[in-house]
Parts: sequence; C-alpha cells; structure tokens
Amino acid sequence: MQEKIQKLKVGMLADLKVALSEQTIKEVEVKYFGRQGLFNEIMKTLKDLSDEEKRTVGKLANETKKELESASQKRYQELEHEKLGSIADDEWIDVTVPGKKPTVGHRHLLSKFIDDVEALFAKMGFVLGEGPEVEKEFYNFDQLNIPEDHPARDMHDTFWIKNLEKYVLRTHTSPVQIHHMEKTEPPVRVISLGKTFRKDSDATHSPMFHQLEGLMVDENISMANLKSVMTHFFQQIFEDPTIKTRFRISYFPFVEPGMEVDCTCPICHGSGKLPDNVPCRLCKQCGWLEIAGAGMVHPQVLENVGYDSEKYTGFAFGMGLERMVMIKYRINHMRLFFENDLRFINQF
Ligand code: DAH
Repeated sequence: MQEKIQKLKVGMLADLKVALSEQTIKEVEVKYFGRQGLFNEIMKTLKDLSDEEKRTVGKLANETKKELESASQKRYQELEHEKLGSIADDEWIDVTVPGKKPTVGHRHLLSKFIDDVEALFAKMGFVLGEGPEVEKEFYNFDQLNIPEDHPARDMHDTFWIKNLEKYVLRTHTSPVQIHHMEKTEPPVRVISLGKTFRKDSDATHSPMFHQLEGLMVDENISMANLKSVMTHFFQQIFEDPTIKTRFRISYFPFVEPGMEVDCTCPICHGSGKLPDNVPCRLCKQCGWLEIAGAGMVHPQVLENVGYDSEKYTGFAFGMGLERMVMIKYRINHMRLFFENDLRFINQF
C-alpha cells in the first residue's frame, strides 16, 4: 500500500513536470485527485487494513496529498513566470521605427473650383447667397415668372417631391435670386453656387449637377455691366486674358432680353485650330463655346419681390459648373466627378 502511494507520488510529479499549460495541470489534478482518481482508488482499499496500519498509511496518504497539492500549485506559478519571461521576446516593440504615414486627402476638384469662383466674385463685390435644395415650386418657378401653365416649365425635367405638394428639387439656382432680394434692398450683388437637379443623364449631364448664378441690381445697370462682369470672369477662371464674350438672343422667362453667352474657346483661343493646324475638337472649330444663360432681370421679377422696376434694373446669369471644369481640365465624362475614383481625383 505504501509502495502504491509512493508510486502515485512519483507518477504525479512526473506528469506535472511535463504539463505545459494550466489546462494540463488541471487534467493531472483530476487524474490523481478527482472523484474517480487514482488516489481515491488506493484509499478505497484502506478499510481492509488493521487499525495500526490504517493509522500509518492514512498519515502517509494525507502528507503525500498535501505535498502533491503544493507541487501542482508550484507548477501553476512556474508556468506564469515562464509566460511573463517570454513577453519580452514575444511582444517587444521598436519605438524608434518611424510611424506609418496616414494618407492625407485633399479637396475635390469641383469644391476647389467652387471656392475659386466665389473668391473671384468676392473681389467684384458679390456676396454669396443661399437657398434650399428642396425648393418650393413658388420660388423655383412662379416668382421667376414661370407660371404653372407656362411651356417654359417643360424646359426643366423636374423632380417633384412625393407626398410634399408644391415642392421640387430645385432645377436651377435662379430661385436664390428671389430669396436674396426678399431679404435685401438694392443695390444687390449676389452669386449662388450649389447643387441643382434634373432628370437627365449622359456624358455631359448628370441628375445632380452644380450651377453658378449671379445677380446685380441697382440704378442704371445695363448690358454693358453684364458683358464686363462675364468677360472678366471667364478671363480669370480660364486664366486666359484674350477671352472675348458674345451674346446671342434667347429666351428665359425671368429676363428680358434674354441671351446665351458664348466665350472664345480657351483651348484654341478662338481660332478653331490647335498648333500644326490640328482642328479644335472642343469648340468644333468654330472658336466659340456656349457657356451661360443671362439677361436683364424681367421687371415682373423685380416687382415680385417689391422692387420698383421703374427705378431699378439688373442683370442675371446662370451656368453649369461641371461644364466649365470639364472645359478647363479637359475632362470628357460627367460621371468622373461623382465616382470618386482615386485615379481621377488624385490628378487634381
Ligand atoms: N436658370 C437657367 C437654367 O438653369 C439659367 C439662366 C439663364 C440663369 C438666364 C439666369 C439667366 O440667371 O438670366 O437654365
């Protein structure tokens, strides 16, 4: 019996020695001291011994059990130490290695262009006006002299807001003219830059696009003022001091007379030809680009906001921003602006 206990002790110590995880130590403990364990096996035979023997063997068994319990506690501690000791090897960091550079983005080409336009007009005394993108029909059409039954409404492929009667996604930035004049007395010099929406989509049209709108109202404002502002603007924004503008008569309900504004092609400088007699494809060799709508503010529009149309006159203009950016940077498809492909975006 004593021999058996001695053997058990040797066996458990050997098992503990090779136990490399807490889990295996626990398994060793169960193997020897669990209810079905080897220790209990031996103890079951204790009853067959004489009283004298029971005492000696019992004592030995108790001592051995204690000894073995502390041996397994010791093994737990050893393992813990080993782990801490290896942390230095496993988890070290070299604090002198240079850090990873975060990728720094930049403003989108269109946003930069919008800022440039705003800065340019600020120099000419124009403030930035504002209006909502979800606009009342009243501002988008009625106040701009486009009544409900007017065919000019068909020129705008309008998104109507479902369940919100008489609201649209603004089809142009012209309603900002009205918002601004409602809040301001003449003289007025205001521009608006922002998103507009129409049911339209191809290489040069997108359902969402940006417009620039301008308005100047004061006593004695004439088409000469319009022409000089337009010309200066195109010369500055296309960085070409040779640019000229011309007006062609056209129709917009909120101006009278209304016109299309053309500027000389900034690529071929109005000649229709590139060096080596290569034909200019942008202006289709005509030397001019149709770029904006404009006109003298219709007296009815001035009266709609309570201005005295006998005393005041004004000009207004509007144009698509993407088109200008496409011309300036030779971009051939509208969708490039909105896809956010870094190969495109990082070129600018
Ligand atoms: N709002 C017009 C459009 O989107 C553009 C326009 C034409 C604006 C003439 C004007 C203007 O201010 O005078 O088609």
